Amino acid sequence: MSESRETALHRRPKGAPRFPEGPAPDPAGSHFERRIRSFQPRRSRVTAGQGDALRRLWGVWGLDIDGQRVLDLGEMFGGLPVVLEIGFGMGEATAQMAADDPSTGILAVDVHTPGQGNLLALAEKAGLSNVRVANGDAIILLREMLRPGALDGVRVYFPDPWPKKRHHKRRLIQSEFLSLAASRMKPGAVLHCATDWEPYAEQMLDVLSGHPDFENTQPDGGYAPRPAFRPLTRFEGQGLDKGHVVHDLLFTRV
Ligand SMILES: C[S@@+](CC[C@H](N)C(=O)[O-])C[C@H]1O[C@@H](n2cnc3c(N)ncnc32)[C@H](O)[C@@H]1O
Repeated sequence: MSESRETALHRRPKGAPRFPEGPAPDPAGSHFERRIRSFQPRRSRVTAGQGDALRRLWGVWGLDIDGQRVLDLGEMFGGLPVVLEIGFGMGEATAQMAADDPSTGILAVDVHTPGQGNLLALAEKAGLSNVRVANGDAIILLREMLRPGALDGVRVYFPDPWPKKRHHKRRLIQSEFLSLAASRMKPGAVLHCATDWEPYAEQMLDVLSGHPDFENTQPDGGYAPRPAFRPLTRFEGQGLDKGHVVHDLLFTRV
């Protein structure tokens, strides 16, 4: 453990939040607790740089998913079209996409504190003004905090594959989620998913193809070629190293 981290831990009184000015530990509180979650709570080490970014920048670019207010995305992003990215991980791909396309706002959501700090630091370094970092469960964000038709797109890159059969119910891309996402998307908005887990790709194609609110952009009804705007993600790189095949799916909200 580095000296600065050790000192910081020793200074923090028991029960006090890790980052008083930063993301809340459980922003939606216990009233949303009794649901199957698509993420694994993990307590990973926050580096000094990530912690510094969380302290300094959370108040500028961060928001807690508390389920208690409806967001005005027009005001938040100065009128830009807005895409929601669910599960940005460490945020490198998100920062890249935001830099490549400043005319689109990215509302990036994850529960992973080190990743939130990392994305804030990357956004500051690149001088980005079109990214916001949301802390908490994307389902609550969609259901409680976004207006119908608020989104111009949704991106879900390498969602947790939950490979064990008894965990399949935790997979994000299911019919119920698609109905919720569709209700918050404008007609013509695109849902873009990518995965390196073949059985999950098949499930995604199956459930998306059968959903009345979505239409495949591919005339043959299959997977899409990877669009040039999607950078290689960290999780994707790990999958490719293991010899996995990556599939992209692009479906339009009808
Ligand atoms: C396997 S990682 C992929 C991260 C990144 N997209 C990449 O490709 O490197 C999936 C991420 O989704 C996040 N996640 C899963 N379900 C979520 C939810 N309901 N709300 C917010 N984040 C979620 C997890 O915390 C995790 O960071």
